[in-house]
Amino acid sequence: MLRDGLNRPIQDLRISVTDRCNFRCLYCMPLAEYDWIDRAEILSYEEIERLARIFAGLGVSKIRLTGGEPLVRKNLSDLIGRLAPLPHIRDLCLTTNGALLEEQAGALRKAGLRRINVSLDTLKPDRFRAITQRGDLEPVLRGLDAAKQAGLGPIKINAVIERGVNDDEIIDLVEFSRREGFAMRFIEYMDVGNTNHWRSEKLVSKQEILAAIQKHYGLTELGREQGTAPAVNYRFSDGGGDIGVIASVTEPFCGSCTRARLTADGKLVTCLFSSTGHDLKKPLRGGKTDAEIAAFIESIWTSRQDRYSEERWEALNSSQGYRAEEHRKIEMISLGG
Ligand code: GTP
Ligand code: 5AD
Ligand code: SF4
Ligand code: SF4
Repeated sequence: MLRDGLNRPIQDLRISVTDRCNFRCLYCMPLAEYDWIDRAEILSYEEIERLARIFAGLGVSKIRLTGGEPLVRKNLSDLIGRLAPLPHIRDLCLTTNGALLEEQAGALRKAGLRRINVSLDTLKPDRFRAITQRGDLEPVLRGLDAAKQAGLGPIKINAVIERGVNDDEIIDLVEFSRREGFAMRFIEYMDVGNTNHWRSEKLVSKQEILAAIQKHYGLTELGREQGTAPAVNYRFSDGGGDIGVIASVTEPFCGSCTRARLTADGKLVTCLFSSTGHDLKKPLRGGKTDAEIAAFIESIWTSRQDRYSEERWEALNSSQGYRAEEHRKIEMISLGG
């Protein structure tokens, strides 16, 4: 099994299929314009499939499609249809903002997608527009319905909780997800990219999130899926389903991080907070064999030492503190989280 410098196997591949997005969430990509990837540099579906096979051969068993917003890329279900039957891939999933889900849910399910994660930070239409700058709540709610009708499941909801923005909606989101049969996940606000103006005061910790929920509901801890997922899951004592909390800041989980990331232009990135990636497109388009590309990936993974969130937590608790703006990172919109 291929292991990195901290003995972590490569198990998951998060593939960004586009860096374009129809939203501009303030916590992710607040800028109207950005240095977008040129069309010619974007990997084709054939190229993504070839790389996915190579990664599967190295031990990857789970693939997640992300963006930007993955559903803005044309005919995404064609890519699903190519990836779903790949040998060794036991889990194929998608993270989306849901805006285009209503029209695409059926085709995605037919092509072989089983489950999705949908970002939804608020149930208030005005607030939804303020956070996403360009989005409307109603189409996302219709998209969630369509996903349910299409048989996608489990459907997980991702809500990034920010102090003074939506921390008053934790219970409303819990009740919504229990009523609709969704798995709600609360995410600590992270300092992704270089433009989201992260400040630790805006962070609502996992401890605070759980305390708010436990005022109303009993919870039993279940742990992380596969032992390696970002979310720690909990079950409602009354049988009302499960929720998760993703505490990248206050309970970093780098020690079990088995995730590789591929950008839409074919760069292999070994951490969400990396400042650069490793170009796989050049060997891919330059006539290298699968074995040569696999050896290149192997050399990158074996020297991987990333543990950014652990280092951030150490810095936050030290006398020097942590200054997010001192760290150049690849933008979240080209990594898909
Ligand atoms: P499941 O496969 O359903 O467990 O999904 P997931 O939680 O792995 O993926 P999703 O795309 O829904 O991401 C949820 C949140 O977790 C987002 O805010 C991601 O940025 C964050 N996240 C995912 N992987 C990592 C990671 O390796 N490190 C950090 N720091 N955050 C991550
Ligand atoms: N902190 C935490 N999560 C974030 N996401 C985007 N930006 C941030 C941030 N700054 C989440 C989105 C989406 C997932 C892919 O990443 O809400 O659900
Ligand atoms: Fe928002 Fe996701 Fe688009 Fe980022 S990629 S702006 S989190 S919808
Ligand atoms: Fe993995 Fe980097 Fe996230 Fe740590 S911060 S869990 S190493 S992606």
